[in-house]
Amino acid sequence: MIKTVEWTAEGVRMIDQRLLPTEEKYLMLRSCEEVAESIKDMAVRGAPAIGVSAAMGLALGLKQAVATSTPDLQYDFDYMCDLMSRTRPTAVNLFWAIERMREAFRRAAAETSDAEVIKGRMIDEAKAIFEEDIASNRALGRFGGELLADGATVLTHCNAGALATAGDYGTALGVIRGACDAGKRIAVIADETRPFLQGSRLTAWELDKDNIPVTLITDNMAGHVMKQGKVDAVVVGADRIASNGDTANKIGTYMVAVLARQHNIPFYVAAPLSTVDLNIASGEQIPIEERNAREVTHMHEHRLAPEGINVQNFAFDVTPNEFIAAIITDKGVARPPYTETLRKMFES
Ligand code: MRU
Repeated sequence: MIKTVEWTAEGVRMIDQRLLPTEEKYLMLRSCEEVAESIKDMAVRGAPAIGVSAAMGLALGLKQAVATSTPDLQYDFDYMCDLMSRTRPTAVNLFWAIERMREAFRRAAAETSDAEVIKGRMIDEAKAIFEEDIASNRALGRFGGELLADGATVLTHCNAGALATAGDYGTALGVIRGACDAGKRIAVIADETRPFLQGSRLTAWELDKDNIPVTLITDNMAGHVMKQGKVDAVVVGADRIASNGDTANKIGTYMVAVLARQHNIPFYVAAPLSTVDLNIASGEQIPIEERNAREVTHMHEHRLAPEGINVQNFAFDVTPNEFIAAIITDKGVARPPYTETLRKMFES
């Protein structure tokens, strides 16, 4: 089992995803600030993994706080929440996890003024978020696995696997693992996912480790392989799903969805309900992160583009709901109209 992020007595331990697949190195993060930095710099990435890491970072920061009164502890906690919320803007799991931790703090502070008890409760909450993420992905893997036929080839974009979650199964790769665990033979085509290469560095690495057959292609080959009839379904993860089903995911996902529509291939989104943002009506309201131009102009130290060239580096795009055949959640499979069906998932 791939351990993406873990709570330990020493601090928050995580695999440094920037170094994969050539180096398997684990980081031991010893402060809330270090965890925030690891999210910002993408040592850990993927919506659910960001949420779990943020929760652990907050618990770690509180554990180390010297404050002994509830107001002082609250002051430190507010600072940490603010720091965490400024790491990455698109994945709603980050804000969901911060809000869960805030709620846990409110509950604990209403019951006790003992700072050590409050700190203990916050560690328990972070651990619960971790455990729930693993269980959610197992559940959505079972639901989604049923949608794939034995012998199917699935195209995926970015990395929505164990590395993008608390560990173990993942979301889009959870659906593939769910189908495999149900005895189906599934092959995967992985888009390399420029510019950060989550597909080639992470998805190919994970699936290879699990002995799930995987073929790597560059992003601009997706249309060609679909046209050749090599793709039976597309399954991707999500960073934020609006209440109408519009889905933000890694840049290039929208392009894949349009191609899938053109070739009559079902396009599925797999995500736990912690990725669904019922507070926004449509994808128009999803903030799209723009990252450093260097990710586009360079490969490690090697320059790929002329010096001083104008660059845009959007990290995500939004796929309109009409391109999505189903949204596979931990509570079941939602079909259009998503405004109704997603809301119902929260009630079940
Ligand atoms: O920039 P990243 O690597 O954090 O983007 C990750 C994605 O877009 C994933 O597809 C998404 O978070 C789903 S992860 C289960």
